[in-house]
Amino acid sequence: MTDPALDAQQTAEAVAAIRAQTDLQPDLALVLGSGLGALADDIEDAVVMSTADVPHYPASTVEGHAGRLVFGTLEGRPVMVIQGRVHAYEGHPLRSVGFPVRLAHALGVQGIVLTNAAGGINPAFGPGTLMLITDHINLSFLNPLVGAVGEGEVRFPDMSDPYDETWRLQARNIAITQKIPYREGVYVWTSGPSYETPAEIRFFARAGADAVGMSTVPEALQAAALGLPVLGISTITNPAAGLQDTPLDHADVLEVGRNVRDRLATWVRGIVAETRL
Ligand code: HPA
Repeated sequence: MTDPALDAQQTAEAVAAIRAQTDLQPDLALVLGSGLGALADDIEDAVVMSTADVPHYPASTVEGHAGRLVFGTLEGRPVMVIQGRVHAYEGHPLRSVGFPVRLAHALGVQGIVLTNAAGGINPAFGPGTLMLITDHINLSFLNPLVGAVGEGEVRFPDMSDPYDETWRLQARNIAITQKIPYREGVYVWTSGPSYETPAEIRFFARAGADAVGMSTVPEALQAAALGLPVLGISTITNPAAGLQDTPLDHADVLEVGRNVRDRLATWVRGIVAETRL
């Protein structure tokens, strides 16, 4: 059971450890998904911390997630880059999956950009597609908000606009202006770690999902409870199960093509440079 006082104390200790390294006040947090870490190397005046040095930060166990926090500026705007996503399938208590979001909130960010690698369900969304997340379906039925209400959180968060519409409109305009091809769609969260079966993917398609993955939704739920606006972008790395002949492999997910990585980086830079919340 969550102990809100302990929870707040742990966040405060993590904030203090970060404040001992940098007094940068991040405006936005960027969560980089599997294989999308390159953007962290573009941060200027970077202060890099291992998440292992941040008290109470859950240990990162997945290849492709560096377990780092990078503080600095991107396009002249102060940001924190989170390369230390926590997944439900790693076996952490579910509440821990929201820890990086609570930390970003406590550090004063105005919004959080969640990126992920996802399987394409919509047949038009092949590998290399960038998908602006319009909405999600929580098919894991897990929820990091179960338990006592955390500090600054609401008990029953409204989820009618989980991926901030105003922010999405701005992101869309940037993609159009910069001629970055993109799609929009619904992301379905499964807990993983096993990939889906072809029957599950057919079911998700009928339910209205365009892409499937094992992250992002718990973070969006945590952000909603704190009133923090979220923007979500999926990189489609593979056709979902049953939509191609070969088995799914994490190595393929990590091998996001250079081209799409560059497009995502350009888009995120534009979002950081030009969007205001
Ligand atoms: N399923 C679930 N998660 C994923 C996939 C997938 O096909 N690709 C990348 N992350």
